[in-house]
Amino acid sequence: MRFKAIKAFLVMVVTLNLGGCFLHLDVVESPPNTASAELCGECHKLEYAEWKESGHARAWVSENFKKETDDYQVEKCLACHRANPIYGAEKLTVRANHPKEGVTCVTCHLTPDNEMGGPHFVLPAHFVKMSDPYYLDPKLCGSCHESHYEQWKASKARLGSEKLSTCQDCHMPAVHRKLITSGPMQYFHWAMDGKKHSFTALPQVPEEGKPWFESVTTLMPRQGETIPVKLTLRHRLPHGVPSGIFGFKAVDLTVSFKSANGLVIEEMHRVFHAEKKEFLKPGEDYQENFLFSRKSLAQAEFVEIRLVRRDSRISLGQVIFLTSSRI
Ligand code: HEC
Ligand code: HEC
Ligand code: HEC
Ligand code: HEC
Ligand code: HEC
Repeated sequence: MRFKAIKAFLVMVVTLNLGGCFLHLDVVESPPNTASAELCGECHKLEYAEWKESGHARAWVSENFKKETDDYQVEKCLACHRANPIYGAEKLTVRANHPKEGVTCVTCHLTPDNEMGGPHFVLPAHFVKMSDPYYLDPKLCGSCHESHYEQWKASKARLGSEKLSTCQDCHMPAVHRKLITSGPMQYFHWAMDGKKHSFTALPQVPEEGKPWFESVTTLMPRQGETIPVKLTLRHRLPHGVPSGIFGFKAVDLTVSFKSANGLVIEEMHRVFHAEKKEFLKPGEDYQENFLFSRKSLAQAEFVEIRLVRRDSRISLGQVIFLTSSRI
C-alpha cells in the first residue's frame, strides 16, 4: 500500500509538471462534442475491443432496430439506442455526434462535471470522478434496461441485497489487469480489479457458483396410453428468462425422450414469448406435465431438457441450458 502511495505521488508530480501533454481535455468534452470510443480506445485498448463486439456498440446500427424504427423515424425509440451521457440525467436524450457508436463510452462514463466516472482510485490522464459507487449500482443499467431493473429490484426485496448479484457482477466478468495498455504511460500504472466490457448476453457461471438453471423430471403414473413427465425447472437469475421488452425474444423449451445412441424418439415443445409476457419467473419454480406415449417410453433411455434462446439476431438459437438423465 505504502509503495503504491509513493508511486501515486511520483506519477502525480510528473503528470502535473507535464500537464499540457498529459491531461487530455478532448476526452472530457461535453455534448455535442463528446469523445468517440476510438479515442478512449487509444489508451483503454482492452475495454474498447470488448465493447466493440458487444450489443452496445450495435445498438444504433442494428438492422432490426433500423427496420423497426422505419429508418430512425420513430423518435421515441432513439434516445436509449444512441444516448448522451446518462449520469445524473433526468431524461435520456439523443447524442448529436458519433451516431454509429450507439451506447458508447461517454454514455456511461462522462459526468456533468466533465469528468470520467469510475469505481477506482486512479492516476489521471484526464479528469476523473474516482471511487464513484454509481458504477457498481444496477441503477446505471436500469436507465435503459428498465424491465430487467424492475425485476432485479423485486428480487432484491425478496432476497436482501447481500445475496443478490448485480448486473455488473454477471454481465461484466471480473478481470485483474491494467486499465491502460498502450504508450509509455502504461508502465506507471499497476493492475487492478476491473471488469470486462463484453456485456455478454449469456454470462458464464462463476467459479464455484451454482449453475444458472436446474431441472427435475419425474415419471408420473400412466394415464391410458400416455405417461406424464412432470418437469420442475428453476433458475437463479434475478430477472425473467426471457426478459426485456424490446425487440423479438423467445425461449424454446424442449423435453425429449432419447434412445441409448442419442436419437430422438418423441419430443414436446413449449415457447415463452417475451412479447406475451411469458417467462420463467425469478425465484419461482416452473412446473408442467408433458404427456409422452407409452410406446416411446419403452424405447427411451434418456430424458433431455433443453432451453434455447432466440432473438431478432440469433434466429437459429443459442442453447442456454441442456441436461439429460436416465429414465
Ligand atoms: C491518453 C490516454 C487516455 C485516454 C485517451 C482516455 N483515458 Fe481514461 N484513463 C487513462 C488513465 C491513465 C487512467 C488511470 C489509470 C490508472 O490509474 O491505472 C484512466 C482512467 C479511466 C477510468 C477509471 C476511473 C475510475 O475511477 O475508475 C475511466 C472510467 C476512464 N479512464 C474512461 C475513459 C473514457 C470513457 C475515455 C474516452 C472518452 C478515456 N478514458 C480516454 C488514460 C486515458
Ligand atoms: C443508454 C442505454 C443503456 C445502458 C445504460 C445500458 N444498456 Fe445494455 N443495452 C442497451 C441497448 C439499446 C441494447 C441492445 C443492443 C442491440 O442488441 O442492438 C443493450 C444490450 C445489452 C445486453 C444484451 C447484449 C446481447 O448481445 O444481446 C446486455 C447483456 C446488456 N445490454 C447489459 C447491460 C448492463 C449490464 C448495463 C449496465 C452496466 C447496461 N447494459 C447498460 C442499452 C443500454
Ligand atoms: C446472477 C447473474 C445475473 C444477474 C445479476 C443479471 N443477469 Fe442478466 N442474464 C443472466 C444470464 C445467465 C442470462 C442468460 C439467460 C437468458 O438468455 O435469459 C441473462 C440475460 C440477460 C439479457 C439478455 C437476454 C434477455 O432476455 O434480454 C439482458 C439484456 C440482461 N440479462 C440484462 C441484465 C440486467 C440489466 C441486469 C441487472 C438489472 C441483469 N441482467 C442481472 C445473468 C444475470
Ligand atoms: C453500458 C455502460 C458502459 C459503457 C458503454 C462503457 N462502460 Fe466502462 N464501465 C462501466 C461500469 C458499470 C464500470 C464499473 C464496473 C464495476 O467495477 O463493477 C466500468 C468501468 C470502466 C473502467 C474502469 C476499469 C474497469 O475495468 O472496471 C474503464 C477504464 C472503463 N470502464 C472504460 C470504458 C471505455 C473505454 C468504454 C468504451 C469503449 C466503456 N468503458 C464503455 C460501464 C460502461
Ligand atoms: C428505455 C430505453 C429504450 C427505448 C425507449 C427503446 N429501446 Fe430498444 N432496446 C433497449 C434495450 C435495453 C434493449 C436490449 C434488450 C432488452 O433489454 O430488452 C433494446 C433492444 C432493442 C432491439 C433488439 C436489438 C437487435 O439488434 O435485435 C430492437 C429491435 C429495439 N430495441 C427496438 C426498439 C424500438 C422499435 C423502440 C421504440 C418503439 C425502442 N427499441 C425503444 C432500450 C430501449
